[in-house]
Amino acid sequence: MSDADRILLVEDDEGLRRAVAEVLGAGGFQVSNVSRADDALERLQEETFDLVLTDLVMPGMRGEALVEEMARAFPEIPVIVLTAFGSVEGAMALTRAGAADYLTKPFRTSALMNAIQRVLEGRRSRQAYLRARERVAAHLEGIMGESPPMRRLFDRIGRVAQSMAPVLISGETGSGKELVARSVHQASGRDPFLPVNCGALPETLLESELFGHARGAFTGADRAKPGLFEAADGGTLLLDEIGDLPLALQPKLLRALESGEIRRVGEVEARPVEVRIVAATHQDLEAAVQAGQFREDLYWRLHVLHLDVPPLRERLDDIPLLVEHGLNRIARRIGVDPPPTVHPQALELLGSCPWPGNVRQLFGALERAVVFAAGREIRVEDLPPSVRRGSDRVERISRAADQELSLADLEREYVLEVLRRVEGNKSRAAEWLGIPRRTLYRRLAEYGKD
Ligand SMILES: Nc1ncnc2c1ncn2[C@@H]1O[C@H](COP(=O)(O)OP(=O)(O)OP(=O)(O)O)[C@@H](O)[C@H]1O
Ligand SMILES: [Mg+2]
Repeated sequence: MSDADRILLVEDDEGLRRAVAEVLGAGGFQVSNVSRADDALERLQEETFDLVLTDLVMPGMRGEALVEEMARAFPEIPVIVLTAFGSVEGAMALTRAGAADYLTKPFRTSALMNAIQRVLEGRRSRQAYLRARERVAAHLEGIMGESPPMRRLFDRIGRVAQSMAPVLISGETGSGKELVARSVHQASGRDPFLPVNCGALPETLLESELFGHARGAFTGADRAKPGLFEAADGGTLLLDEIGDLPLALQPKLLRALESGEIRRVGEVEARPVEVRIVAATHQDLEAAVQAGQFREDLYWRLHVLHLDVPPLRERLDDIPLLVEHGLNRIARRIGVDPPPTVHPQALELLGSCPWPGNVRQLFGALERAVVFAAGREIRVEDLPPSVRRGSDRVERISRAADQELSLADLEREYVLEVLRRVEGNKSRAAEWLGIPRRTLYRRLAEYGKD
């Protein structure tokens, strides 16, 4: 209970004050209440609060003055105004003066709770963002993350790095596998680090790239060349996209791993190498084994230690940090100082996207946003359409929830909206909605719209 959000309630009407305090208390908040605005300012000097809820018309100092004074003295504490007069101008003036939101009396308990949750969420993401700004300045090149799944990953990287056994890194595209491979290498204190993409070269070239070749081993081999295994001796070799390693090379790699020796193409004698192998893949290797595309013995050999990089959608908490990091990187590269900032709404949007392309897609979106924002703060409209689309939906649904529409109401609105968009064409509407035409007719009859 100690880390419950603390709310200061300022309301002169005793009955209402008690009722609201009770509701908030039942909602899990820690509530203090006062009946006058000047008392509120005094309490704010003494204690810390996460949110202030204030009436507008009170004897003595009015709510408007409290909002203004708070914007000056406690800008980090959001204020929600409870007003009996629902005038739009009045509300806008309050918002300009610094109020985070307002509710018109009488209001429903659920509307109050929704407003409070929304405002507290916004405050939390702003705070996370500010903290991120401070931290990122320190380590620019590193792998960023503070979410529980990333903390677990860092912990595993630390332990895995102590061993010499092969490590298999799995994870979706763009999730940071190469960065993880580099961190394993860095934490191992070895040298050098050499990456090779197993899917980028045809089989014969890849073979000589990995193992080297003797002079005259094939046409064009006019001099002997050591391969990456030899070059990485004493260090780490990253076999990237290991799932694409041609079947014919798989036994040769297995032999190298098991014997600690390699043979250059066209040579008989074996050369000892001492190389730490890290392999990465976005494919499901187990499925590739089942499908006969990847040798099971090699799979087990590589799979001794396993690191799984979680997709970005499972660590959305890290987004403020990654955004700050990405913007710093972009700014440095294109020579912009100071780095661009992000409007809280845009940040919120970035934090609620599914990101199928993971961190790489996020950084791409930021890169584009920096261009579109052209020097000012990055706003929602600067983000790529793919990012914005996901959010419109969230926005509409959350608005429906605010209006307390029932599922049946929502369905009705949705069906009618779809019908409008297809200009009354019922077959197309049914197709769009993914329901049989009969069902659509029945619904429309129920709505009295047939
Ligand atoms: N946790 C992170 N912190 C900072 N930058 C990150 C993080 N994860 C990924 N990146 C950045 O995102 C981009 C993609 O990362 P990386 O190349 O490591 O992904 P990958 O999993 O190897 O992708 P692919 O499957 O396409 O090879 C890089 O620019 C990388 O620096
Ligand atoms: Mg990669």
